[in-house]
Amino acid sequence: MQIHIVKSPELAAEAAATLIAAAILENPDLVLGLPTGSSPLGAYRALIRMHREGLLDFSKVATYNLDEYVGLDGTHEQSYRRFMDENLFDHVNIPRENTHVPSGVGPDPERNARDYEAAILSAGGIDLQFMGIGRNGHIGFNEPSDSFADKTAVIALSPSTVEANKRFFASADDVPKTAVSMGVGTILRARRALLLATGRDKAEAIRGMVNGPVTPMLPASALRFHPNCVAILDEAAASLL
Ligand code: F6R
Repeated sequence: MQIHIVKSPELAAEAAATLIAAAILENPDLVLGLPTGSSPLGAYRALIRMHREGLLDFSKVATYNLDEYVGLDGTHEQSYRRFMDENLFDHVNIPRENTHVPSGVGPDPERNARDYEAAILSAGGIDLQFMGIGRNGHIGFNEPSDSFADKTAVIALSPSTVEANKRFFASADDVPKTAVSMGVGTILRARRALLLATGRDKAEAIRGMVNGPVTPMLPASALRFHPNCVAILDEAAASLL
């Protein structure tokens, strides 16, 4: 794992966006895995700026998001589809049909998960997977557990994740308790991985990811087995290294 530590969250966002932009410039047909959450917002703003400046063309890029809450359709204001539309897709020239977010609705979420994994495979796999990290070390919605999920699956959110995400809902009771998420295996099969973490509240998870044992109790630790993974950290997130 290649680790870059920069002074501020703003610089970390610029660094992540620069890496993504370079990948798109190298390969206009890039298959790009994407996260939601607070971590990627600055990078998305930078990518939008680069697009507006005429530097970046998204017309052939395909995207696959890491996860979606079960039970929220794409129009729900807390759905990850809506998040992606508002924070990136609506502001760049990516064709809507090239953007993929797992479906959290319908009678059979397990089937949605299997179909999503198959769609990634038929797109030729993910070239670059961008992601954040949870305070408990989760990636996507792969929560601490006793085994790594290999493929996209329906996953139960841990109480700490429900707690962390309740800020977006009226109450903890309104936070969906399951999600469709790429598995750790799906993430490891991406040809390149890019993790962005900022802020002191990620420092414990980053210490575990970098220096602790590789264990499903800290899912991001699996990235140490990725042959081409870059972690961009601000000084606060790196403060326990
Ligand atoms: C979101 C995702 C999650 C987040 C993580 C960090 O699609 O997969 O793993 O990356 O929970 O969230 P933030 O960035 O809000 O701290």
